[in-house]
Amino acid sequence: MSAPEPFDAVDVIRIKRDKGQVPEDALRWMVDAYTREYVADSQMAAFAMAVLLNGMTRDEIRVMTDAMIASGERMSFAGLGKPTVDKHSTGGVGDKITLPLAPLVASFGVAVPQLSGRGLGHTGGTLDKLESIPGWRAALSNDEITAQLRGVGAVICAAGTGLAPADKRLYALRDVTGTVEAIPLIASSIMSKKIAEGTGALVLDVKFGGGAFMRDVDMARELARTMVALGTDSGVATTALLTDMNTPLGLTIGNANEVRESVEVLAGGGPADIVELTVALAREMLTLAGQPDADVEKALQNGQAMDAWREMIRAQDGDPDAALPAPRETHTVLAPASGVLTRLDALPFGIAAWRLGAGRARAQDPVIHSAGIDLHARPGDEVQAGQPLFTLLADDDTRFGRALDALEGAWEIGADAPASTPLVLERITA
Ligand code: URA
Repeated sequence: MSAPEPFDAVDVIRIKRDKGQVPEDALRWMVDAYTREYVADSQMAAFAMAVLLNGMTRDEIRVMTDAMIASGERMSFAGLGKPTVDKHSTGGVGDKITLPLAPLVASFGVAVPQLSGRGLGHTGGTLDKLESIPGWRAALSNDEITAQLRGVGAVICAAGTGLAPADKRLYALRDVTGTVEAIPLIASSIMSKKIAEGTGALVLDVKFGGGAFMRDVDMARELARTMVALGTDSGVATTALLTDMNTPLGLTIGNANEVRESVEVLAGGGPADIVELTVALAREMLTLAGQPDADVEKALQNGQAMDAWREMIRAQDGDPDAALPAPRETHTVLAPASGVLTRLDALPFGIAAWRLGAGRARAQDPVIHSAGIDLHARPGDEVQAGQPLFTLLADDDTRFGRALDALEGAWEIGADAPASTPLVLERITA
């Protein structure tokens, strides 16, 4: 006969429902019993809703995170002989920063284990973008990851299913029960995976604004503070940047076109906002790795970061010189009047790129690597009537109609330049 369970899910739910603090052993049991499928989805859903409504203390969030880490394997890169630093972005439109950032930081002798996911909905996935490169392979064994970190220094690959399996179940449940937005649950979800991954330090890019997961800057700040505290409490040196996601990042939204733009940045060019964010995050990461004075701009200009990129792509069987997939069909939207582009909203542009085939609606769907949007102007740019504003890229011209529907009212041309707002709003430390 199996041993009796030490707690009852209904009691744990009642404590949170009544705004109490769940004792550590009961909370650990709840996560473990849910992973073992002893606690039912309906009970965990009620608990998640109680957390959404009543919150969790810092201690509860720490225990929740720890319990989710304990549900699976925990990797360690302690034997590498070099510091490890990872970056996590809460996701945005045109957010390809990981691509230039990982090789840039690795080119300073730091190991960057970027265990990433695929895109779902309007924010793109790093692996989807890299899979535009002919031959490139996302699935690596733990031994391959370690060998690549030891050699090249940077690895961007699929996170194994062994990391925090409790989070996988809980996240899917939250998705269908209106409980994704609970800050303690988001924080413990993200940080359990990052801590289980075994990084020594972590920089978080927490986005706010129309194209971000957290629209409200105060909520984004609270999430950032919660995650920085969690990382710190778990012995992972963690800092966060709070960054603006009201406008798409750079001039490309999609997969192959985002790779192309990332390579431009590694070649010392690229759009100013991509360079600014890449440099800001690289400085944070290198500071945590003990190199606060590293000249990251120089490494983008002198080919040092590009060399690391090429090595990183080749190590995963990709050909950095191969042509990227090109779209069969394009549709360019022209400026209807002369003036200044005052607004270009991230969310509708992300949705349009998704409808063009760049993203997926269901986890099992494929993405079309050549699909997406190329922007020809950004807010603040002067435009002339008839000038191209942006180009939709697709494999099938029947997709243009629904993409254009999403872009209705998503941009504006006016007389005056918009007030400039900082891309990096704040730095949050422990
Ligand atoms: N990303 C995650 O991994 N978890 C969340 O809860 C939200 C975003």
